[in-house]
Amino acid sequence: MTTLREAAAKKGIFMGAAVNTGISRDATYKALAQKQYNLATAENACKWGATHPQQGKFDFSNCDEIRNFTLNEMKGTFRGHNLCWGSYNPGWLKSLSATAKKAALINHIQEMAKHYGSDAFAWDVVNEAVTDNGGAQDPLKNTDWYPDVPDYIDVAFTTARAAFPKNVKLFYNDYNILDKRTKSDRVYKLVKSMIDRKVPIDGVGLQAHIGGGYSDVAGVKVNMERFGALGLDVHITELDISYNSWSQSSETEQAKIYADLLQACLDTPACKSFETWGFTDKYTWKGTNKHPLPFDENFKPKAAVSSMISVLTGSPAPGPSPSPPSPSPTPPGPKRSYDRLTQTCLNAAAITGKLSVGSVSECETLCDKQTGCTSLDTDGSDCYLKSHCEGQTGQCSGWCGYRVKTLIV
Ligand code: XIL
Repeated sequence: MTTLREAAAKKGIFMGAAVNTGISRDATYKALAQKQYNLATAENACKWGATHPQQGKFDFSNCDEIRNFTLNEMKGTFRGHNLCWGSYNPGWLKSLSATAKKAALINHIQEMAKHYGSDAFAWDVVNEAVTDNGGAQDPLKNTDWYPDVPDYIDVAFTTARAAFPKNVKLFYNDYNILDKRTKSDRVYKLVKSMIDRKVPIDGVGLQAHIGGGYSDVAGVKVNMERFGALGLDVHITELDISYNSWSQSSETEQAKIYADLLQACLDTPACKSFETWGFTDKYTWKGTNKHPLPFDENFKPKAAVSSMISVLTGSPAPGPSPSPPSPSPTPPGPKRSYDRLTQTCLNAAAITGKLSVGSVSECETLCDKQTGCTSLDTDGSDCYLKSHCEGQTGQCSGWCGYRVKTLIV
């Protein structure tokens, strides 16, 4: 059977999952992650508590474990989470003065950038800054950072932009902002004001910890489109769908919600990554008894797996849930031609992880169909689509970069 990863690669979308350290201790867990996903995030291992246990003393070992697994074993794309969050911080941070907190924030981001460079194609720079209280005057939540460091969001993004290579995408990530509602309106205002004030931001992460019965997929699309209209990328970053009681009909409903959200992402050009928070009900922060993820506690695919594969391949889903409509084909445009570069793209910005192709020209055709794609790296068998690529045109064999003619992008 086709895997999620193979089907997603053909669509040029990241299909990811959060993974945990100690993965090598559960061979089944590890093998399934590698087989089914082309993107991974550390569920906890790259947060402050793990990487910065004492002031000024860094421990990258756990975060490295997930990065190495993702890049070397999964041969996938690594997504960084996170550089600044108001919760789950080490005790030493909470007791600092406001001035010292700001200095610690800058130091932390700079050290993470020094160590990880462009290993992660995107980082959640600030996580969960906006309040859940719809009636509050102040849109920002009181946290370990706020109000002590009133401009901490700007500081975090500005520091990250200066410290990370320019192809690394900088994201704001939050929960309860999947569809259009008061909290997502506030996030929209926040990121729009950042753009207006030239604070560097590349995207918004929609966490999507939702429950059974969720039905506002139309609102999700409207929400993603408005962020896209600001020029931002959108990632679904932490999807899970929890149930208080579980039955055959819950499984069928859950499969439809997963499929509908994936379809909404595919239908929205700004949506580039679709990721669940874990992938097996055996290991989930929500608890196995909530059955939130696409694979069950015995690593068996639930109905959600085939419903998502059907969305990706456009073929009817087996079982009772009706098949979602297949995506409308991209209208044929004039075939673009590409310059070959002397080596793979330099300072490139990734749009996709590894796609499988039969030739260089097949990779170019995928690029032609992908919004924003202007270049690629390929050896004629693996293909990576890019939106930015520097380098000289000329002779090359094996792995080479290709760039749409006349564009330096
Ligand atoms: C959660 C992890 O899943 C738990 O294991 C941990 O105890 C707490 O953090 N929003 C986020 C994630 O951005 O980092 C959180 O992850 C879930 C909510």
